[in-house]
Amino acid sequence: MDSSWLDALAPHAKRLATQSLATLLGRDPARLRRDALRCGPLYLNLARQRLDGEAWSDLLGIARKLRLRERLAAQIEGEPVNVSEARAALHTALRSDLGRSPRAREAHAQARATLARAEALAARLRSQGITDVLHVGIGGSELGPRLVLEALGAARGPCVHFLSAPDGHRLQALLARLAPERTAVVIVSKSFGTAETLLNAREVRDWLGGKGPMVAVTARPDAARGFGIEEDAILPMWDWVGGRFSLWSAVGFSVLLALGADTFAELLAGAAGMDRHAVEAVEEENLPLRHALSWVWNRNALGLASLAVLPYDHRLASLPAHLQQLVMESLGKAVLADGSAAVAMATAPILWGGPGNDGQHSFMQALHQGTDAVPVEFVAVARPDHARQGMHRMLLASLLGQSEALAKGAEHEDPRRAHPGNRPSSVLLLDRLDGRSLGALLAMYEHSVVFQAMLWGINPFDQWGVELGKSMARDLLAALEDPGRAVPDPVSAELVRVLRAALEP
Ligand code: F6P
Repeated sequence: MDSSWLDALAPHAKRLATQSLATLLGRDPARLRRDALRCGPLYLNLARQRLDGEAWSDLLGIARKLRLRERLAAQIEGEPVNVSEARAALHTALRSDLGRSPRAREAHAQARATLARAEALAARLRSQGITDVLHVGIGGSELGPRLVLEALGAARGPCVHFLSAPDGHRLQALLARLAPERTAVVIVSKSFGTAETLLNAREVRDWLGGKGPMVAVTARPDAARGFGIEEDAILPMWDWVGGRFSLWSAVGFSVLLALGADTFAELLAGAAGMDRHAVEAVEEENLPLRHALSWVWNRNALGLASLAVLPYDHRLASLPAHLQQLVMESLGKAVLADGSAAVAMATAPILWGGPGNDGQHSFMQALHQGTDAVPVEFVAVARPDHARQGMHRMLLASLLGQSEALAKGAEHEDPRRAHPGNRPSSVLLLDRLDGRSLGALLAMYEHSVVFQAMLWGINPFDQWGVELGKSMARDLLAALEDPGRAVPDPVSAELVRVLRAALEP
């Protein structure tokens, strides 16, 4: 992978290192137009990134030279871009027929047929008087559906509860307030082999006792049948959809069940619009591409390792958690996609975040006066779905104030009260929060992640790094269960000893 493009950015980073954002903003009025982008219901303002026209010109030249849009188009047509698993990544086929190759069209046909089955199954469950859904899944089999349900609000259908970790407290608290005869259990697991999910599923199946329906969403229908799921309640997934890219598939069944087919269709339509934009919009106006370039600039040119996503809308409180998996499980790699060498530059940022206004009373101190500059992604909704205009204006003003303060800073004769400023941030605004805008937002992040992976030469679609810990956990679970089991690692052995002693009846 040619990483010389990074060398081309070094002179810009050197030049810009001594220029404050205040200077850049004052010197280049064209910036406001150039760095404000729109795609459908999304608006992205990059004007407070530590970049100028010259640097953007080289960044966009790199994107063109590396043919990022064309490579995304090839992915959408079904090219086996997940090279370590020899698979396509056709999550775009879940939401539209943008891909015209036989491979992409076949995938879209499978998706449409499954969606029709899911809609019929959802209608049947609603007719059975189901009031609650227990969604059992973890990672991409939970985070996306959870975010969508929290974001799109009051469910007309049943209330959805999520079970992810093997946490007996969570399980007991949930089961205590649910009635088996009015609860549908939805087991979501592409592999149908994730230990946490299977343990939760067995516990819930016992509790259900056959009184309520069970649904499985999986790429392993045989395993689901073996678990006792009826054939017509098994909805397929496919190996051409990665878990963190799967909410658009039957993984989103709980969303479909709770919010209805129309809302789910709106979600898909919003994502489909972003898919088309990501491939067709020229680089300068390509929202996910410019987003990706700004993240790579902060990571590689400025050397900033952390990144905070701060939603100023409680309905998007789970956005950082969803993006943690999408970004860090996709980009947390240090070896090139073909395995030939280590990546020549830093890759995934440490992505974190939380509700922005609350953050102003906790972590924002460090972002304003700490030793490290942390790029911030502010996310908000322009038009509220409530009538309390004064509250919404304060929410928006809070975001605007934080972004400006991070950029401009403030001098003070007492150094302890000075704000260095010059801390980059972007502002992402949704016109309003509905299926279409949320679909566009989440698809935008998917494409930005893929563009970043292309720049770094890594595979965003595999996740070999999650296997070792799971394997060790299996051995250590056996040691917790069997005192005679040897534990080779001395620290683990000591920890197992302490825990076994505490667990003694
Ligand atoms: O964390 C590893 C991982 O495979 C994720 O990529 C995936 O979303 C999650 O575990 C759940 O996997 P499954 O859907 O197969 O249970």
